[in-house]
Amino acid sequence: MKVLITGAYGQLGSSLRKSLANDSEIEAVYTDYDSLDITNREAVKRFLEDGKFDVIINCAAYTAVDKAETDEILAAALNTVAVGNLAEAAAASGSKVIHISTDYVFSGQGFRPYEENDEPYPQGIYGRTKLEGEALLTSLCQNAMIIRTAWLYSEFGKNFVKTMLSLAETHDEINVVADQIGTPTYAGDLANAIHTIIRKPDWKPGVYHFTDEGVASWYDFSKAIFELAGIEEKVNPITTAEFSSAAKRPQYSVLSKAKIKKAFGLEIPYWRDSLAKCLKLLQK
Ligand SMILES: NC(=O)c1ccc[n+]([C@@H]2O[C@H](COP(=O)([O-])OP(=O)(O)OC[C@H]3O[C@@H](n4cnc5c(N)ncnc54)[C@H](OP(=O)(O)O)[C@@H]3O)[C@@H](O)[C@H]2O)c1
Repeated sequence: MKVLITGAYGQLGSSLRKSLANDSEIEAVYTDYDSLDITNREAVKRFLEDGKFDVIINCAAYTAVDKAETDEILAAALNTVAVGNLAEAAAASGSKVIHISTDYVFSGQGFRPYEENDEPYPQGIYGRTKLEGEALLTSLCQNAMIIRTAWLYSEFGKNFVKTMLSLAETHDEINVVADQIGTPTYAGDLANAIHTIIRKPDWKPGVYHFTDEGVASWYDFSKAIFELAGIEEKVNPITTAEFSSAAKRPQYSVLSKAKIKKAFGLEIPYWRDSLAKCLKLLQK
């Protein structure tokens, strides 16, 4: 099986490189901005025509949620138009697509885990451009899976876990929002799930949700990071209103994973167990 991974040096892309590394039955081609700028329609068309890939996994995205509020053109170019480029070229070359989306497509006003067919209602530019990317993909390519995820962290790139660890080096106390609820998700777990999915004999297009198991606030997440890392740090719970940010964050963004677990027979780790594993890797 020949697989193309775009955005291969971001958090999820790097986690996929790690997951696929020892799979001799998968020939993986890894690209990032320098080798394949997915906003370049002609380049994408040529690359997919020449490559004859069975599956394209799109990990490239504009992920700077606050910056997107004042950078809509670039956010839309990457999260919407470029997804259309991949969809169009994949449909023409007969490749399947796995595209990653986000909990930010929802309003965050819910009180029970979001299911795939719940009404989306993004609160900011990032979520809106990602939702429009989903729509474009679905309209241009029938052989597409969309996997919405949330609160990703890993040993790669920039993320909340690394921010907390570095803040602890310079601050005695940290204020962390305690009234936004979701699920911390180790990118390695999502990468392993994608690896399992592409190895399954039957392809099941559609929208899916994937996060780790369990529920936490950002405050709970930060307390667990310090506890599991063995770092003494005072964490103060604060409200969303006390923490200023350019983009509005969903208050509640727990995703239901029932569909993806049933469709692909996945067992998903509990978030604290995966956090402990990632911290060990970071502390090596
Ligand atoms: N991070 C989260 O908490 C989170 C939550 C929910 C959903 N997601 C979704 O999960 C997916 C993976 O996120 P991530 O955290 O792994 O993102 P990431 O670390 O920001 O990686 C994105 C990658 O895309 C690359 N890229 C940027 N512009 C490109 C272009 N024009 N052509 C090709 N590649 C380009 C980036 O390269 P440069 O670094 O060189 O710019 C980077 O390597 C995204 O779809 C994101 O929306 C993430």
